[in-house]
Amino acid sequence: MDYEERITAAELGEGEGGTELTLRPQTLDDYIGQKKVTDNLKIFIEAAKLRKEPLDHVLFYGPPGLGKTTLAGIIANEMEVDIRITSGPAIERAGDLAAILTNLNENDVLFIDEIHRLNRSVEEVLYSAMEDFALDIIIGKGPSARSIRLDIARFTLIGATTRAGSLSAPLRDRFGVSCKFEIYQPDELKQIIRRSAEILGVTADEASLDEMAKRSRGTPRVANRMLKRVRDFSQVKGSGTIDMEITRRALEALGVDEMGLEGLDREILKTIIERFNGGPVGIDTIAASIGEERVTIEDVYEPYLIQTGFLYRTQKGRMVSEAAYRHLGIEREVPDDDGGEQLTVTISQ
Ligand code: ADE
Repeated sequence: MDYEERITAAELGEGEGGTELTLRPQTLDDYIGQKKVTDNLKIFIEAAKLRKEPLDHVLFYGPPGLGKTTLAGIIANEMEVDIRITSGPAIERAGDLAAILTNLNENDVLFIDEIHRLNRSVEEVLYSAMEDFALDIIIGKGPSARSIRLDIARFTLIGATTRAGSLSAPLRDRFGVSCKFEIYQPDELKQIIRRSAEILGVTADEASLDEMAKRSRGTPRVANRMLKRVRDFSQVKGSGTIDMEITRRALEALGVDEMGLEGLDREILKTIIERFNGGPVGIDTIAASIGEERVTIEDVYEPYLIQTGFLYRTQKGRMVSEAAYRHLGIEREVPDDDGGEQLTVTISQ
């Protein structure tokens, strides 16, 4: 399976029947949230179209599931050009990238997801492609080797990454526009869920829209998936419309708690509390304790735990907050002033 199929499959999830694609907005006007990003892009797109030029290269960074691929598709749509979607790890050799680049038409968009995972030799080909719309190809080996320059179509690279800090400086510097994606607010998620419910042809009352928005960990991908699962429950166990009773029942069955935390979120907090007395503890130690990769914790779980105020970063490591103890219903052991005996403070739910 090539990357285009994989990314589609990954985002569709099993048995989603392709609805995720239709839930994706096609225009900037239909795209909800990330206003700082979209307001600027609107101007840059209009200006590029007026000049009949490709949009400058754009870097998207931020946690997964916030609509980076969706927005790349919208940019191509608004620019009235084609988009080619691939990912850093999928481009193994410089030749793979050259094949993609030589097949682009004037002003097309090339979207590279996980661009921080491009290998060095591929990245070096990208530099001249981005800057001069040219490929430097080496022909032959040893002393008789020579380099020829091949012109390619003027295109727009949209790179996406969950970790802007992992991008090499020369690559980062070649993007004319850099956009940070923020976790969504509940009112924005509510609008997204309302829109998706309309597209799916399912009715949900206001209270359940609020509830799903509150529990979607600030992430449209999570919100849309949640809506589909709640819809399943409403069709099989309820009246077919989504109300609070069916929403609560579905979310309990899915293991999503009142704050939208799932199993691994709670495990991270519990591990810090129970094994490291609430922290501070280093991220590598947490990762080893729960058997997850450090980057997964940093990119996928931490942003929402930090946003809820349950977790924070200090110079000495991660710490959980009072609110996390309260949320999990765990008593906090507080050392007394001289650091000697411990006294126990009980915090009721
Ligand atoms: N689906 C995913 N992200 C979205 C967004 N920002 N607005 C509307 N629908 C979305």
